[in-house]
Amino acid sequence: MKKIRKAVFPVAGLGSRFLPATKAQPKEMLPIVDKPLIQYAVEEAVAAGITEMIFITGRNKRAIEDHFDKAYELEAELEAAGKTQLLEYVQKVIPKHITCIYIRQSAPLGLGHAVLCARSVIGDEPFAVILADDFMDVDGDTPAVLKQMTDVFSYEGSSVLAVHDVPRANTKQYGIVSATPYRPDLELVDGIVEKPKPENAPSTLAVVGRYVLSPRIFDFLENLGTGAGGEIQLTDGIAALMKEERVLAYRYAGTRYDCGSKLGYLKATVAMGMKHAETGSEFKAFLSELHEGRGFEE
Ligand code: UTP
Repeated sequence: MKKIRKAVFPVAGLGSRFLPATKAQPKEMLPIVDKPLIQYAVEEAVAAGITEMIFITGRNKRAIEDHFDKAYELEAELEAAGKTQLLEYVQKVIPKHITCIYIRQSAPLGLGHAVLCARSVIGDEPFAVILADDFMDVDGDTPAVLKQMTDVFSYEGSSVLAVHDVPRANTKQYGIVSATPYRPDLELVDGIVEKPKPENAPSTLAVVGRYVLSPRIFDFLENLGTGAGGEIQLTDGIAALMKEERVLAYRYAGTRYDCGSKLGYLKATVAMGMKHAETGSEFKAFLSELHEGRGFEE
């Protein structure tokens, strides 16, 4: 069985739901407490044993390249000032054995098109796709969500989509699968449709931003026209792939926050702020003060 070595991070979207914050910076650089979303996503890939990170970038995405690059001046200044803890944070943004590759998507033509941009770097091996704005939190000893999925891939050998149940009223925000039970936590996908209206949705099982895909998907993405929203949709590529190869839907263990939306981002910030080693206890005390209606007092 081939090991998953490469992950694609499509970061070329416009992030329009976060304007004006995303006018001059990518939404993937928005921090949850003190780390940008894209760093959490890369850490999740590293935890799954992935060593090649392929970023599909667009305009205004320079900050992502800089974030994963060496910062000579900053490091020299922190060192001179004896700020060793901060220096360590900066140097540990990405482990030394990881390779980063950047590919420019000429225009934001859709998620399917963004993934297709990675074809020449991926070649003929299965790979992962991570949407950094879907922030995944796991409890205690639970493995990272992508690690759970690469484990499924290693014994099943087929493409795996991360899914969870959503309220029927929300199906129009997601790719929705129809599937039959296969094993505990796993379903066999027999249909997938992008952003269906609640009355047309085949189920309430929604795909979220983690995928392990067979390289065969590229053949289908290459021949796709535009789909929902006038974009080249990854969902449509998966719908075609599914007719030739088995595709599994995996009910992951963990909590997903939609950090492409303001509300999801706020929820993730609060949840992670409460868990944070530095801020956790004071922040929890602050929240309970707020809850009791006393507000914040200096
Ligand atoms: P979204 O639709 O959630 O992201 O795409 P967006 O377009 O940046 O955000 P809004 O809707 O305008 O607020 C899902 C993911 O696919 C990437 C985005 O960066 C995001 O991570 N994407 C989307 C691309 O890389 N290229 C595209 O052409 C479209």
